[in-house]
Amino acid sequence: MSKPLMLRSELLDLDLSAKIYLITGANSGIGFETARQLAKQKALVVMACRRVEDGQAAAEQIRAALPTARLEVRELDLGRLESVRAFARQFTQDHTALHGLINNAGVMNTPLTRTAAGFELQFGVNHLGHFLLTELLTQTLKASAPSRVINLSSAYHDRAMGRDGVIHFDDPHYTSRKYDGWEAYAQSKLANVLHAQQLAERLAGAGVTCVSVHPGWVRTRLIRNSLPVWVQNYVLRPALHLAGMIEPWEGAQSTLHALLAPEVAQQSGQYFSQTGQYRDRSCNSGGWPLRSPNPNAHDTAAAARLWKMSEQMVGLAGHA
Ligand SMILES: NC(=O)c1ccc[n+]([C@@H]2O[C@H](COP(=O)([O-])OP(=O)(O)OC[C@H]3O[C@@H](n4cnc5c(N)ncnc54)[C@H](OP(=O)(O)O)[C@@H]3O)[C@@H](O)[C@H]2O)c1
Repeated sequence: MSKPLMLRSELLDLDLSAKIYLITGANSGIGFETARQLAKQKALVVMACRRVEDGQAAAEQIRAALPTARLEVRELDLGRLESVRAFARQFTQDHTALHGLINNAGVMNTPLTRTAAGFELQFGVNHLGHFLLTELLTQTLKASAPSRVINLSSAYHDRAMGRDGVIHFDDPHYTSRKYDGWEAYAQSKLANVLHAQQLAERLAGAGVTCVSVHPGWVRTRLIRNSLPVWVQNYVLRPALHLAGMIEPWEGAQSTLHALLAPEVAQQSGQYFSQTGQYRDRSCNSGGWPLRSPNPNAHDTAAAARLWKMSEQMVGLAGHA
């Protein structure tokens, strides 16, 4: 079992009072811990949540210990393109700056479900919703440079429960082949890595650093479609910790490193992981940044093809 890398302590003391950060899925797990830490460092944190009431409850929890926290809770359902558009419209009306976009929200191993636009849910929420959101906020990110985009990917972009991470360009939404929830998760998480790489290339010289991260294997509600959360949190918790599972605060370290460490500005496009769970053992001890063992994660032609396909799917082709 490898120990997670922890953030350099001076990064946790930075005064972020001039910064605005946006975190998707900030009401739970890694996103919540990230929001709490950035608020502690005096940043204005926009918590973009699927259910506003859950976001408000999370914000209240942060404020209980940190009454001066500057938090905005806004509704964002990444599975509905009109929600993403409405969110971005309102955000850019209300704010002229954005110093960090943390594309954190995600679902894993869901039963076959389609979004209103007909997308397979994991590809739709984990990748396409974030792709559209990022495009709609790119001008604001550029205007706020130096700024950063962090995509929460996963070690499972390489292989998830034995399923290889591949973008199935012929049928990404499983319309003509048998659905597999783990394969679809791996596809969506590989898309997160390729999206960050391609974004880094497109925004080179603009002062916007774009990276992807694997947070580690973290005790959150992400597991809920595979195992009851109470079994993870109570029955199996000691055994899972021994096997390498870490706590949400430890899981927030990769995101915070990618957002705050000065050297990351020279590492745009890279993949960061404090610890891995790879077939390639040399990667398991982690490092910042870390080379993915999946050859598909280094396929620049696939990254460009994914970009074009994503633009078409979210209705941006010809406009971007
Ligand atoms: N936990 C791990 O071991 C692990 C490992 C590798 C990568 N990751 C990645 O880390 C990220 C954060 O996950 P987590 O572990 O912190 O899980 P989590 O506690 O389940 O948090 C996921 C967040 O995503 C939100 N979300 C789900 N569907 C959404 C939608 N349609 N629109 C907007 N928000 C939506 C959830 O909102 P609700 O509360 O409303 O459902 C929740 O706030 C994910 O991208 C995940 O793939 C996690």
